[in-house]
Parts: sequence; C-alpha cells; structure tokens
Amino acid sequence: MPVSARIQKEVVSLRKEIQYHDYRYHVLDDPDIPDAEYDRLIRKLLAIEAEYSELITQNSPTQRVGAEPVTSFETVTHQIPMLSLDNVFEEEGLREFQKRIFGRLKFDPSIDIQYSAEPKLDGAAVSLLYERGELVQGATRGDGTTGENVTHNVRTIDAVPLTLQGDDFPVKLEVRGEVFMPLAGFRAFNDNAQINGEKIFINPRNAAAGSLRQLDPRLTAKRPLDMYVYSAGLVEDDWVPERHSDVLNKLEEWGFKVCPERRLVDGIDGCIDFYSEIGARRDDLTYEIDGVVYKVDRIDYQNKLGSVSRAPRWAIAHKFPAQEEITVVCDIEFQVGRTGALTPVARLKPVFVGGVTVSNATLHNMDELRRKDVRVGDTVIVRRAGDVIPEIVKVLFDRRPARSESLSMPLECPVCGSEVAKDESNTAIRCSGGLRCSAQRVESLKHFVSRRALNIDGLGAKLIEELVAMDRISSPADFFGLRKEELVTIDRMGEKSADNIIKSIERSKNTTLDRFIYALGIREVGETTARSLASHYGSLSAIIDADEPALQEVSDIGPIVASRVSQFFMNEYNLEVIRRITDSGVHWQESNQLTHDDKKHAFLSGSTFVLTGTLLSMTRDQAKDRIIAAGGKVTGSISRNTSYLIAGDKSGSKLTKAKALGIIILTEPEFGQLLSKDK
Ligand code: IVH
Repeated sequence: MPVSARIQKEVVSLRKEIQYHDYRYHVLDDPDIPDAEYDRLIRKLLAIEAEYSELITQNSPTQRVGAEPVTSFETVTHQIPMLSLDNVFEEEGLREFQKRIFGRLKFDPSIDIQYSAEPKLDGAAVSLLYERGELVQGATRGDGTTGENVTHNVRTIDAVPLTLQGDDFPVKLEVRGEVFMPLAGFRAFNDNAQINGEKIFINPRNAAAGSLRQLDPRLTAKRPLDMYVYSAGLVEDDWVPERHSDVLNKLEEWGFKVCPERRLVDGIDGCIDFYSEIGARRDDLTYEIDGVVYKVDRIDYQNKLGSVSRAPRWAIAHKFPAQEEITVVCDIEFQVGRTGALTPVARLKPVFVGGVTVSNATLHNMDELRRKDVRVGDTVIVRRAGDVIPEIVKVLFDRRPARSESLSMPLECPVCGSEVAKDESNTAIRCSGGLRCSAQRVESLKHFVSRRALNIDGLGAKLIEELVAMDRISSPADFFGLRKEELVTIDRMGEKSADNIIKSIERSKNTTLDRFIYALGIREVGETTARSLASHYGSLSAIIDADEPALQEVSDIGPIVASRVSQFFMNEYNLEVIRRITDSGVHWQESNQLTHDDKKHAFLSGSTFVLTGTLLSMTRDQAKDRIIAAGGKVTGSISRNTSYLIAGDKSGSKLTKAKALGIIILTEPEFGQLLSKDK
C-alpha cells in the first residue's frame, strides 16, 4: 500500500525540524529545546521509519549510527586539487611571504591588506560534496589529486550536516575542512582502549585519520570525531563571494561548523598578534593545533596570485615549534622522590621540542617502562606539550640496535643503597631508607619550601641540594637556623640574594595551619586533605591527638590516609622536628573546632569554581585561596557541576564551554563583588 501523502509530509517536516535542532546544538552550540523534546522528535521519526521502511533515506538524521561495512575504499578524483600549504616558523619568513604577494600585486609596501587568520587544525583534511543541499560524498585528501571515498564514515560525524540549512546554497557545493578528534575524546578513547587491551593512538591526528579509514562505519560512529570547515572547493552556481571570510560565514549559515577562533586581521602585524594570542591559549583549546594559517581575505587578490606547485601563493601556515621529535635514549636512571618512590627517567640526546631543549623524559613507573619497552640505545618519539613534563610516546622498534636489553627493577636505592620494595599498589617501587636517604631528604625539603607549602622564595633545588650535601640542613627545622653569613659563603650567592632568602624565611613564619600540614609532606596528604584536617580540627595539637578512627570522620579521609597521618604523628623524630619549627617562631591562627553548621554556612560552601584567563587584581593562586577560604571548591575543567566560571582576560575554550552549558560566568569585578559579600 502506498504511503499516504500526510505521512510523507510529516516525515519531511520532522526531518527538517530535527536537522534544525542538530544545527543549533552542534554548530551554534545553542540548543533551544530540552534534550527530552529532541529525543521525542527522533523517536517519532524512528517509529514512522520502522513502519514504512521505504521512507528511509541515507541522509535521514536517524541514519548516523553507521551503515553496513564496505569491502574497500573507492578512489575519488578531486576535480579541483586539494592543495597544501607552505610553512614558516619565524616572523621573517612571514614578512617575505607578504613581500612576494605585494610584488605580484604591485602594491605599495606601506599599505595593509586583511588576512583571514585561523588555527591550523591537526587532523585529516576531508572534502564533502553536496548536491541540492544533500550530502552525496565524503572523501579524504589523499595525495591532493585523488583521495578515498569515506562517505559511509563522514556521515557518522555529528558536525557534518547531512542536509544543508537555508535555501540559497549552490546546486553543487564542495566544502573542505579538517576532521579531528577533540583532546578530551582522544584521552577518553585511549584510556578505554588501554583497559581493553586495544590499539592506542599516539596523537589525535592519527586517531582522526585512522577513524576515517575504517571499513566499518559503526566503528567510526563510536569515535568522538568533530569537523571544522575552512574553504569551498567546487561550486556550481552563481555564488561569487568577495572575501574568504564571507565564505566561512556563509558556510556556517548553511550548517557547517567553522572554527570559532578565526579572525580577520590587518597586515603582518595583525597576523603576528594572532599567532602569539593563539599560541598563549594553545593549551586551553579543546583540540590540537600545530600552528595558524593566514589567507589573503580578498578573493580577487587570491585569484590574481594563483598557486605554485602544490600550494597557493595567497596562504601560508605559521607553525608552532613541533611538540614531537625523534631522539635517542642514552641512559635510563631511577630518580628517588619525596616519599621514596623510584621513577624511571630516560636521559635523552638533547633535542629541541615544544619550544625548549629536552634531555630527560619521565617513564612514570615500571609498568609504563615495560609497556612501552624502552631500552638504552632506542630511538624514540619524545613529546613535550605546554608545560607538561616531556614523555616518551613510543619506541621506533625498527631502529632498535641489536643486543639491546630490557631494564630490570633495581634491588637497591640508587642514592642511599637501602633495600627497594614494591608499593602496596604494586605499580610503584620505593626506597625503604626514609629520611636516611639523602634524595628523599632533598625532595621533602624542596616540598616544604614550595609555593603552596611554606612558600619560601629563593631556596631553589640547587641550593637545597648543596645545603644537604654540606650537611648544613637535614630537616625543615634547619631552614630557620640559616644565617646570612653562611649563605654568602656558598658558591655564586651574592649579598642581596642571601638577604632576600633570609627575609623570605622570616616571612614564611607567619603561615596557616593547612599550609603547614601540607608542607610536612605526609604521604597521601595533599592540599585538599591538609585543608580538611585543618578545618576539622582547627589546631595542630588536636590533629596530633586524633587516633585513626577519629581521623576517618574527617570528610574525604579514608582508612589509608588516616593511618598515614596517625603514623606520621606517632613518630618521635617528626614530633621533634615540628617542635623545633614552632620554637623558631613559625605560627598560624588556630581556631576551635568548627561545627558542622559553621561549615554549612561557610559562604561559598557547595559552589564549584573554574578559573580561566588572566586576572588583573590578583593571581590565580590568590583567587583560589579566597574561594577555598569561603568554603568553595576550585577545579580545573568545566562540567555540568561547575557553579561559576571566573573569566579573566583572554579567556579561551573554557568560556565557550561554560556558555554552552549555561554556567554562570563572572567577570573579575563581579567576582570581586561576590567575595566582598563574605564580610
Ligand atoms: S587551507 C588552500 N586552513 O593543513 C589551502 N588548511 O598543510 C588549503 N589545515 O591539508 C588548506 N587547518 O589539512 C587550511 N584552517 C586551515 C587548516 C588547514 C588545518 C590542514 C589541511 C591541509 C594542510 C595543509
């Protein structure tokens, strides 16, 4: 029986409605109906499609989950080649790029032209072809002339519209862009793969490219892929945009996602500002980029300039220093940490990566060392992203020298020779020497003076190591006996620096109970636990007197932490050190035990804050301290549980995400007002 006209019409209108909500959700990040309402629409469409299967079309919003696998990839010829970009790393190269352009266009060097500045996304280039607004083909870039047909896979990506919005799109429209895997998705995917013993991707670019080249689209559908488009290819119609920026805006209107970080800039100086700005925010972006791209905005200029070999003359990529490089492992040593944990560290042939010269990379623990199977003499890929400690991504096994040996677990501490034992968790190995081990001593002393502990400026790692080697200092109490005269006798130490250190030590004597507890370096007691202990007991003597069952009543403290705390304060040596420290004048405000009610009334209790951007009137640490003092919590990333985002200057992706989730956003002055309510 033929399907009635009414049903057919209903299907068309349901699809239109769903597509519009997909667009609001995925492209504009601004849904205007609740999820439940959206689900209702989808269910309605699914129900009709289940009854009348002849109405199912490939581009129905219900068909994203992934169709049947293909047996191989067809080849697709790009009617207009997909070009690549020339690179520069320095400002000088950029100025030469403009000089060449101005020469060809016969422009006066003193004028400025506009460039469309965009992040250079690190994923896989893809071409999408639409006919009468319907997606008909998706293809990889391949060698630029021919790529592979991956239509079945691109269909599963939410950011790829199956049907275009509006009615003014060209009859035939090819759109190009980058398919990428956002960092959060990449990490979650790899964590999951590791648990299930599946293949791990070494970076988000490989993850995106690998996911696109799946024969089975149901696998691609499970990968967290996204796509930003950055140009139009083939266009069959009379759409003649004047500027590249117009193209991007129009593509956004038709339903594509375009990178929100794009901007029109004036001249090379504008390009350089953009480069520094994006560079500074690189670690806050939710996706990986390897530089920025500048494109001459006016399309008539672009046409005059044309391209040379495989790259246009009107665009250039300004790359960031590489975050991954190849180098050789010269040695693997074990470093002893504050609590005695032995961490394998690879000593590398120095290599310039992520903007600095790297000669060490952590291997975290024995499990990791075994899993990656790193050996002395291996050629490895080392990665340094942002301020994260450099790490070895993987070994290039085909370059492994013959007769290399895998490393075995050390039996004794490389520093003090004490026996080494496996940790309860079985991943860490520990030196049993305690404070007899000079490495543990040095590390715990460094911790004591660190910024969020007693915050003693000027006592750097080198100086502490020297003082320990001279036997001048063996416990934190000894810091308070240091005299200026002895500091100046130490290598390279001037009067002024010595003076500053003494002043800083003096200043540190006025501290808070939670900082002091944190500074003691009790195992498992980080800042949060130290704070809980301080606010629960209010005084050091009350904490010292508390037994294990009592400690477990403190919020966030379980049996393991309780036993660590109790053991620490039962140790005579520790008590003696604490007595000497307080005798030398270190003090803090003690309060009587806070009642449950007091805590409930703490003014920001129950609120979770995220800080982003640069604050002008205080440092982030100060802001954090004030929130915590008022009972609030501070976390690093935005989620539905975030109560407020404090957005400083140059806020990045966190701001975008907070807006999308409808989280309250406070400017710095508004935050100031909120805090002043505390009085
Ligand atoms: S434009 C005509 N814009 O970089 C210029 N490319 O090295 C063609 N890419 O294959 C590319 N972000 O995969 C352009 N905003 C962006 C880009 C971008 C990443 C990639 C793209 C291309 C490669 C060229």
